[in-house]
Amino acid sequence: MTKPSPETVCFNKKARTYDSSAIPQKEAIDWVQGRISRIDLSAQILEIGAGTGNWTRIWLKKGFKNYTVSDVNPAMIEVSKSKLQSNRVEYQVLDAWKENSEDEVQKYDVITSTNLLQWAPYFSPKKVFPFHSNLRSAGLSIHCIPIAPTLYEFYEWIPEIQPFSWKTADEWKSLFEADGFSILDLEQKKNTYKYVNLQSVLRSIHNTGATLKNKTLNLRPFIKKFNHPLHVTWNFLWIVARKSGSFERS
Ligand SMILES: C[S@@+](CC[C@H](N)C(=O)[O-])C[C@H]1O[C@@H](n2cnc3c(N)ncnc32)[C@H](O)[C@@H]1O
Repeated sequence: MTKPSPETVCFNKKARTYDSSAIPQKEAIDWVQGRISRIDLSAQILEIGAGTGNWTRIWLKKGFKNYTVSDVNPAMIEVSKSKLQSNRVEYQVLDAWKENSEDEVQKYDVITSTNLLQWAPYFSPKKVFPFHSNLRSAGLSIHCIPIAPTLYEFYEWIPEIQPFSWKTADEWKSLFEADGFSILDLEQKKNTYKYVNLQSVLRSIHNTGATLKNKTLNLRPFIKKFNHPLHVTWNFLWIVARKSGSFERS
């Protein structure tokens, strides 16, 4: 068995605090929820990195019948199960960055995620998104992703930590195209959030399971310096892409 990555361990520990702190991520879901349209309710759908089920709930409300919820962290899946209490979903522990077994290849009509793809460790130029091998020809890949510039205020507050390396909308578009997909929809949305001080910004990030780089840095002087109201910016991308080929259901 492979060793879980530090990010994975962190998300597992934060399964119970995620929902109360992930306000930007939940508002991004509110923004995109009306955009799922013209998909057959009998489509086979796989959600990756589903976490506590905030995106799953939207699809189930719309009446999709063949829905597989997956996440690499069993603790996240347990929270989702107890929140959704649905007998219409199948649950799977699944690492989105690993290729799946042969029998699962090309099973799904739609693969979807929210607030996940920014965590991808690297993108191979040959097969950019490994999970796309699970998608049938002409299947849809539908995602909502935090993008650059997000949390850029950190560069001013604490230049020593760069919380994340966000990609731009154009970079994401190119990655999907490099994987043989055509882009059907691409939209962006910016939101700003107010916090009472830097400590509360840091706490909210920490409680969603995200880790800041440069863990050895003493944050106390920065917390003292920015002990006043401030705001942070989040930018999100909504992307719908279609796999090449004609649709054939086996
Ligand atoms: C920021 S949360 C987003 C959860 C949910 N999609 C949402 O929008 O509320 C990221 C989720 O991705 C999961 N995750 C992280 N790495 C993953 C991987 N390699 N494969 C599948 N899921 C992963 C985490 O366990 C966590 O539940």
